[in-house]
Amino acid sequence: MSPLEVGGQVSIVVDGETVLANPGELLIDACERTGTYIPRFCHHTRMRPVGMCRMCIVDVDTGRGAALQPSCMLACTPGMVVETESDRTRKAQDGVLEFLLINHPLDCPVCDKGGECPLQDQTMAFGPGESRFVEEKRHFEKPIKVNDNVNLDRERCILCDRCTRFADEVAGDKLIHFMARGSQTQINTFPDLPFSSYFSGNTVQVCPVGALTALPYRFKARPWDLEEVESTSTLDSVGSRISVQSSRDRVLRFQGVDADAVNWGWLSDKERFVFEAYDHEDRLATPLLKGDALGNRTPDGSELVSAPWNEALDVAAEALRAAPADRIAVVGGARLTNEAQYAWAKLAKGVLGTDHVDSQLGDGLPADLLLALPRATIDEACTPGGTIVLLGPDPKEELGALYLRLRHAVVHDGATLIELTQCRTGLTEDATHSLRVQPGEAAEVVSAMFGGAPPAGSSGRSVGDVIAAGELLAAAIGPVTVLLGRSSLAEAAGPVVDAALALHDHLPDARFLSLLRRGNVHGAMDMGLAPGLLPGRATLADADRFADAWPGVPDATGRDTHATLEAASNGEVDVLVLLGADLLADVPDGDLARRALAGAGTVVAIDLFATETVASADVVLPAAGPTEVDGTFTNLEGRVSRVVRKVTSPGTSRPDWMIAVDLADRLGTDLGFTSPDDVWAELTAVSAVHADLSTEAIAADSTEGVVVTGGLALVRPEPTAIPARQPSALRLIATRSMYDTGVMVAHSPSLAGLAPGARAALEPTEMRRRGVADGEVVDLVGPKGTVQVPVVADAGVAAGTIHLLVNQPGVDVVAMLDAGAPVTDVKLVRR
Ligand code: SF4
Ligand code: FES
Repeated sequence: MSPLEVGGQVSIVVDGETVLANPGELLIDACERTGTYIPRFCHHTRMRPVGMCRMCIVDVDTGRGAALQPSCMLACTPGMVVETESDRTRKAQDGVLEFLLINHPLDCPVCDKGGECPLQDQTMAFGPGESRFVEEKRHFEKPIKVNDNVNLDRERCILCDRCTRFADEVAGDKLIHFMARGSQTQINTFPDLPFSSYFSGNTVQVCPVGALTALPYRFKARPWDLEEVESTSTLDSVGSRISVQSSRDRVLRFQGVDADAVNWGWLSDKERFVFEAYDHEDRLATPLLKGDALGNRTPDGSELVSAPWNEALDVAAEALRAAPADRIAVVGGARLTNEAQYAWAKLAKGVLGTDHVDSQLGDGLPADLLLALPRATIDEACTPGGTIVLLGPDPKEELGALYLRLRHAVVHDGATLIELTQCRTGLTEDATHSLRVQPGEAAEVVSAMFGGAPPAGSSGRSVGDVIAAGELLAAAIGPVTVLLGRSSLAEAAGPVVDAALALHDHLPDARFLSLLRRGNVHGAMDMGLAPGLLPGRATLADADRFADAWPGVPDATGRDTHATLEAASNGEVDVLVLLGADLLADVPDGDLARRALAGAGTVVAIDLFATETVASADVVLPAAGPTEVDGTFTNLEGRVSRVVRKVTSPGTSRPDWMIAVDLADRLGTDLGFTSPDDVWAELTAVSAVHADLSTEAIAADSTEGVVVTGGLALVRPEPTAIPARQPSALRLIATRSMYDTGVMVAHSPSLAGLAPGARAALEPTEMRRRGVADGEVVDLVGPKGTVQVPVVADAGVAAGTIHLLVNQPGVDVVAMLDAGAPVTDVKLVRR
């Protein structure tokens, strides 16, 4: 080894100091890592270098004499001598800035980027004192909208290629480009083709000047007005790291934080702009009681009216005290922090003694299965050269930041993707094999991949493709990761479980990454908000661990959400507690949800908004939102990271853990918690898997978080029998899309108008066979109802199926579903 290569690293000299660089490391990155910042505009560590701006030019001598070179394009080599502050370097950087400022408007006082603008900062730090340019600057119309939420001011653009590289390389949405030439070169979209990307907000964040600005933040604050904390996005289960920025006690912006293991600084626009919902004036600010509960204070007793906390808690506690444990149920909890989930698990299971507790809403997978299958991290799933099997929903629609990581792995890092999906996904065009499966069919297709008989009928895939996919998996050299989730609300969990277990059997070394999407649903499972489970990935058989901390634990496994709703609709539930559960929107059986709400004795809703579900509750307790509480979050990998309070919650709303403590107090039990830290301390005492995870350990590496390992023994359920489909019927696929009528999107003005609308997608030959024209409105007759919806041709759906988006304006898809059936068949009737 040369003396210039030390332990696999290379030795270089920067401004007279010897430093060690990693093999292949770019000079600009090596300098920054070792304490020397080189100014830059186009360089971004998560995108390929392009050398567009020349701002990072430094004096470099590689043995052939010093020369000015862009440090973002130069890999470190042994013995390289670098001057970042020589006169020549200074003069070159000065010149670049002067050129950039020739056409850049000096509108810093009215520019959103003013105060956090690298061009402004570097002009002050490295630039010339005054401009020699007296001619008229270039002018463009100021600003133009490139989509609903992003404005472009072309005069400010310095042509750094960051936004275009992001759109092309990272998001795969090549919708924003360089156009024209010379001094007229500009960024723009094609006419009639807006920058309609789920990830457009990232271009605003990476734009080094104020050329791209986000409408939700435009003119709201100056950077020096903002205070910020680093926290975790609780919108979905990826748990992206975010910076929460506020001014005068109002959140004004979320920015992505580069967590190497999670989101790489990227956010979906939904994660980025959903802060508007948390800040919405419709947030519940006081408890509400139904007139009945107040002794008919309102004329017909059916309206919710404001009530003091004491009174509302008394009514809820009295209902809980009067009900036998077996007639109490708790549904929901994925919105809560880990600490609030633990407090609620202790109240429900330890104090009230009910195990009818489920954080999932009938649209997920059994917690005991997910906790038993070997788990993968995002990094493991995205290992260069690894193999990914997608058996679940489209990550682009449901888990935006994860989609960007997966796309990077497949497009740039040589990962192989095999899809077993019911319709085309955002990753399909990059998949090696994309096998369309009908609802209920995945386990048979997995079996066929490994030599079993192919399923009867065709879903538009070739037998050869199935076999080739199986051979590819069997021969995989790198890690194999199965992305596992529920593709369709019209398919029960059972068939997905069967397919997952079949993959587990054929690929015993494969690991699984859950695609359950709802907020902190993985924390809820870890905290025991599932039938048969206790905090710390324990079962009711582990009751001994809780003997000192809890008054007791239930004897027998309780009901899941579907069974609870059936019981409630039969009048067998006296108190139904809804922990942020919007049953009418989210349960894949609207009719059952409605009957359950009507049949339950007292409904206690703990929520942020007065949803239609909340409106039918008897007691409503307003909860603090995710920017208003301290605690922790567990993402889909089992990674625990901190959620940090930034602003005050509206009115008298309270953290969910505190509501559990208040109710327990009224029931005569002190839960023993005065803060989220108290809860965590008890968790580490009772949980084997959290025992070594102190709050200090989580805080110490809060950006990356800490992955909790350990799980349950695998218990195999009985396989699910799938009924045959009548030739005249179509098997229904009902999926979620990024934007819908869900409560958070509906209360984010920047997102609310983006729902794509209702449509039924049908395979083109199926359309021709049935004589349906593109755009024709038809009746779809389901087991519980009929919807009217226009049909569009889509070669991306499996043959024999029809694909609907749920929660779209005007069409109540969940109302036609029967969640008790393994699959749902519908009849298409022309009107
Ligand atoms: Fe760079 Fe911003 Fe111009 Fe895009 S709009 S090229 S990010 S300066
Ligand atoms: Fe190196 Fe732009 S940062 S050329």
